[in-house]
Amino acid sequence: MEPREAGTVEPVTQAALLERVERVRRQGRFPRHIAIIMDGNGRWAQRRGWPRVAGHRAGVRSVREIVRFAGDIGLEVLTLYAFSTENWRRPPAEVNALMQLLVEHIRTDLDELHRNGVQIRVIGDPDGLPPVARREVLRAVATTRDNSRMILVLALNYGGRWEIAAAARALARKAARGELDPERIDEALFAAHLQTAGLPDPDLLIRPSGELRVSNFLLWQIAYSEIWVTPVPWPEFRPQHLVEAIEGYARRERRFGGLGDAVPAGTAAPASPAAPGRGDQPC
Ligand code: FPP
Repeated sequence: MEPREAGTVEPVTQAALLERVERVRRQGRFPRHIAIIMDGNGRWAQRRGWPRVAGHRAGVRSVREIVRFAGDIGLEVLTLYAFSTENWRRPPAEVNALMQLLVEHIRTDLDELHRNGVQIRVIGDPDGLPPVARREVLRAVATTRDNSRMILVLALNYGGRWEIAAAARALARKAARGELDPERIDEALFAAHLQTAGLPDPDLLIRPSGELRVSNFLLWQIAYSEIWVTPVPWPEFRPQHLVEAIEGYARRERRFGGLGDAVPAGTAAPASPAAPGRGDQPC
């Protein structure tokens, strides 16, 4: 069955949403890791004649609601694309506003996140952030380091190509120092040098606001992710949309490059998929 168009359902109660998620879990098709490209803030605001930053502010409300709900449903890992290496090209006023919102969000929400057992991690280069944002982000990471209920990964000053180049550099340095035989570099070793080392790859990648792009997000890690695009802009994205995406994911058959021996959604991707040329076909 094809997924329903997101955003077409009536508002529903938290209890009803939890029951729907429970049904997915009982089927053994609950994702471990969901990654979201939080898109559409600017257009959402502009459609209302508001400044783009009003969209980002509304987007923070969505962040808060989705993080809370993800914790409620027992998601293991939630990754949010908050600021890309390309976002520096925006006007300085918008960049400053985004950094300010990030700082405000941490100052307002860190206590609650910590109480709720959320462990905050950052991927990307925090050293490239303005000093206050860098300080607050690192404080959030340090404060929540030992929490284990859910891992919230914030992609900040992040780019997939940047991350892959950094991993290649780290491996090359080890090889140059004679600590690593280049022949030992395989997919698992490469993945262990990414910033997401130790995390499961995203099972589900959600892109609100309708664009059909991956925008330099987790390029290595999404090799086998199921992609869910919804026209709902991020400022309107609510738990019910997350549940629709999870239900859509649960209806998918994940083949991981195989043929008819369909693997139900909820099955983890192979840590190191078969090398191309050994039956690994594009899905
Ligand atoms: C894309 O919308 C969104 C961003 C570049 C930033 C997302 C940031 C937040 C929601 C707030 C700060 C983050 C946290 C974690 C508190 P867009 O402006 O590209 O939308 P458009 O495509 O409609 O222009």
